[in-house]
Amino acid sequence: MKAHSLKELFIEELRDLYDAENQLTKALPKMAEGSSSPELREAFEEHLEQTRNHVSRLEKVFAGLGEKPKAEKCKGMEGLIKEGSELLKEDDFDSEVKDAAIIGAAQKVEHYEIAGYGTVRTFAELLGEDEAVSLLEETLEEEKETDQKLTELADQINVEASEGEDAESEDIEGEELEADQQTAKRGRTSRKRPAA
Ligand SMILES: [Fe+2]
Repeated sequence: MKAHSLKELFIEELRDLYDAENQLTKALPKMAEGSSSPELREAFEEHLEQTRNHVSRLEKVFAGLGEKPKAEKCKGMEGLIKEGSELLKEDDFDSEVKDAAIIGAAQKVEHYEIAGYGTVRTFAELLGEDEAVSLLEETLEEEKETDQKLTELADQINVEASEGEDAESEDIEGEELEADQQTAKRGRTSRKRPAA
């Protein structure tokens, strides 16, 4: 469907988010399972509950607009989840480094959702859809809180990951040492540098 009016664009964006949230309900359990830190696992489990709620809030928004809830493939979320699942398959990361990578992937997802909800909330305001504004605002706040919680967990986990690197860089031998010499001097190897 081509959007001709702001209302149509609003509905299209809601369908995109509806698909994004549904994709996330499938990805979050895998992210929880792949996390070593119990706090990180708990954060993903909690966000899974919230995400199910985000799906039902969007259904309420559709109902308020007299629209059937319909998903339109969200390629952005699909790409972010694909990158995250590739990280989850990595088995040569130390557990803290892998957790740091998972947090980085999850924060990309949160920022994407924050942008998406910020947009539809503003559209709802412009269109005078007050019920939609408050429902979308609630979800937007939860996405921001999740992002904040992930930043706090990263503060702790990324330090643990970088401490692991100090010990590891002393064990590197031969060619690998030569190749990584510059970065190893800084106590990390470029290949294993955490993303977040
Ligand atoms: Fe969400």
